[in-house]
Amino acid sequence: MAETAVLRMKMIDQVLKTIEGRKQQSVAALSEFLSIPSVSTKPDHRADMLKCATWVSDQLKFGGFDVSIMQTGGHPAVVAKNKHQAGRPTVLIYGHYDVQPVEPLNLWTTPPFTPTVRNNAIYARGAADDKGQVWCHIESLLAWQAHGGPAVNITLLIEGEEEIGSPNLGSFVSKNRDALKADIAVVSDTNQFGPGVPAITYGLRGLAYMEVTLTAANRDLHSGLFGGTVANPANELCKLLGSLHDDDGRVMIDGFYDYVVPLTPKERSDWAALPYDEKAYAQELNVPKIFGEKGYSTLERRWARPTCDINGLTSGWQGPGAKTVLPCVASAKVSMRLVPNQDPEKIVENFEKTLRARCPDNVRLEIHCHSHTPAVLVPTDGKAIQLAAESIEIGFGKKPVMMREGGSIPVVMMFKKQLGVDTLLLGFGLEDDNVHAPNEKFDLDALHSGTRTAAALYGKLKDL
Ligand code: BES
Ligand code: MN
Ligand code: MN
Repeated sequence: MAETAVLRMKMIDQVLKTIEGRKQQSVAALSEFLSIPSVSTKPDHRADMLKCATWVSDQLKFGGFDVSIMQTGGHPAVVAKNKHQAGRPTVLIYGHYDVQPVEPLNLWTTPPFTPTVRNNAIYARGAADDKGQVWCHIESLLAWQAHGGPAVNITLLIEGEEEIGSPNLGSFVSKNRDALKADIAVVSDTNQFGPGVPAITYGLRGLAYMEVTLTAANRDLHSGLFGGTVANPANELCKLLGSLHDDDGRVMIDGFYDYVVPLTPKERSDWAALPYDEKAYAQELNVPKIFGEKGYSTLERRWARPTCDINGLTSGWQGPGAKTVLPCVASAKVSMRLVPNQDPEKIVENFEKTLRARCPDNVRLEIHCHSHTPAVLVPTDGKAIQLAAESIEIGFGKKPVMMREGGSIPVVMMFKKQLGVDTLLLGFGLEDDNVHAPNEKFDLDALHSGTRTAAALYGKLKDL
């Protein structure tokens, strides 16, 4: 090892010691963060969003950062910088402080905004997605601060609208191109491959989220008096939605697969070699059987095949017991997960065209796109990946595997398109963290290893 590398490692070791000594404090601070109900989709949580942004800002100010809470047109974003110096690499760290809604509340063992430690994990909405992972980075920077700060330029961008599709982030990034200029971006908002199997993620699926509404009569009707004489939007919606797949699980939207990049034999064999157990997957989810598009493994289906799924379905009587009624409206929320090189705008257009062509003229059809974002692939080689892999090995005591993910993070493509910057996706979550579901948690070992990884990374990226 060159002399500078030895010195660098010594420095990192000291920062890791500081982190070790602050484990309790770290969990306590994360608990504060998690107690703020920053649900971005709900208008009545507006004040909580600002409160949460302010909390993040205060931590970073305490760590010596120059911080601003910036208007975006939606919920505010926190931008923070250490003192940037010419000749040093600049690292742009992204995360989100907003969280998903918590309903149904009765399924939570402890309340979603009363963070609770049990089974070596912290339970709260946002624990893994994404406050716990954001906290890994902030905590590591606070530890670095105690040693004079890392020798790289740091810019943090912590936004408040990821869970609603980052609708204002694209224009925010483009307006603040100079302030956000960087050599590499780092995002921790994904998962490890498995418990004790850390990973670098090099691909994410995209998303197009649609809402379909069918209406007919001007009011709900008695299903005996009127049934069989006017079209029932619920019946028609079921037919339309039923037409979206064939029996092999392929999506039946015109042109859906036109630009899909097929898996390479190398990816297929690499993924087949990962320590993955389909039976355990089925068992953990308690499904009767594994399901999916014919001809692909579960990992291939999750990481590299596009999907179309009903996310919400509403019509007619939903209360207890029977009520004889012909509903006058039926609606569905439908998400399509996209892969390279599907163009979200084309897919949205084709979705609409296909449904219009199939919809009978006895009902009215309305289609709305809530948000869309393309799939991304980031480089799997190069200096940054190598330094990230070394950092994970320091943080977790194990070398990472390379994986893709099925979820979406809109900012990754924005950074690439508008800043020309590649992203390191270093995720610390686990598959059973219950993100977006009741009893979300973040494993305390993941919190610790993630914090260590971030600390090592900010030492190592000096060599970028
Ligand atoms: N952090 C998730 C995405 C994720 C989770 C990726 C785990 C990989 C592994 C993110 O907060 C999220 O939920 N994204 C949304 C997309 C958005 C446009 C609403 C998603 O994927 O549904
Ligand atoms: Mn997230
Ligand atoms: Mn999420």
